[in-house]
Amino acid sequence: MMSQPAGHRPHDFIDSGHSPRRPQSAGEGAARADNAAGPDGIEFEVRRARTSDVKTIRRLVEPLAEDRILLGKDAVSYFEGLQEFKIVTAGPTRAVAGNGGGETVACGALHVLWEDLAEVRTVATDARWRGRGIGRRLIESLLADAADLGVRRVFCLTFEVSFFTGLGFTPIDGAPVEPDVYAELLRSHDEGVAEFLDLARVKPNTLGNTRMLKIL
Ligand SMILES: CC(C)(COP(=O)(O)OP(=O)(O)OC[C@H]1O[C@@H](n2cnc3c(N)ncnc32)[C@H](O)[C@@H]1OP(=O)(O)O)[C@@H](O)C(=O)NCCC(=O)NCCS
Repeated sequence: MMSQPAGHRPHDFIDSGHSPRRPQSAGEGAARADNAAGPDGIEFEVRRARTSDVKTIRRLVEPLAEDRILLGKDAVSYFEGLQEFKIVTAGPTRAVAGNGGGETVACGALHVLWEDLAEVRTVATDARWRGRGIGRRLIESLLADAADLGVRRVFCLTFEVSFFTGLGFTPIDGAPVEPDVYAELLRSHDEGVAEFLDLARVKPNTLGNTRMLKIL
């Protein structure tokens, strides 16, 4: 496992999972063009999760689930929901290491709830790698996925209000769906959907969380 070099923000994010239609910032464009290393020589990559990533995703989520920050799930749920997940890897630049490899330092998922609504969930950056812009890039990538899927509103349930505010989310009350859609969503067996609906049986899990929404 790679130790965390301190103090530098990465210049070198690559998002291998976004659509070609997604506009790039000048910084991203430059990073793609020369694939430059950050000052500490570490390169970050956002990519779609693979089956072999499930163990690591569980390792990232487990301590947060124990602290009731994230919803814990059985292994089978991660495999079933694998296509919703993206991960961020950190490693030496490709110029040095070649393709692939790298330590998995963050994960996150986009779960479609309804025609115009999705949820970002299970977002976690390894505690040793926080504050380096990894979470921000991961959410931006998931939001780009939401836009590609035709979703215009993205929900999250979180303790990290400042983080999500910085990404354009605002606090809301209740579940932002019409009563007929609410009734349809009640048919879901997904625990995250039960939390979205704020059902009485899951209220102990969501205590202290803020409900937030971003319009794309
Ligand atoms: C929330 C979380 C994913 C952020 O990950 P991260 O990789 O440290 O985030 P970043 O480094 O991209 O931070 C992005 C910005 O938010 C700021 N920020 C990060 N965490 C913050 C916090 N707890 N409070 C206020 N601001 C915060 C950073 O300073 C940064 O600001 P900048 O872009 O203006 O420099 C991480 O703290 C985490 O894993 N938390 C536990 C799990 C969780 O609560 N997930 C969210 C619910 S799904």
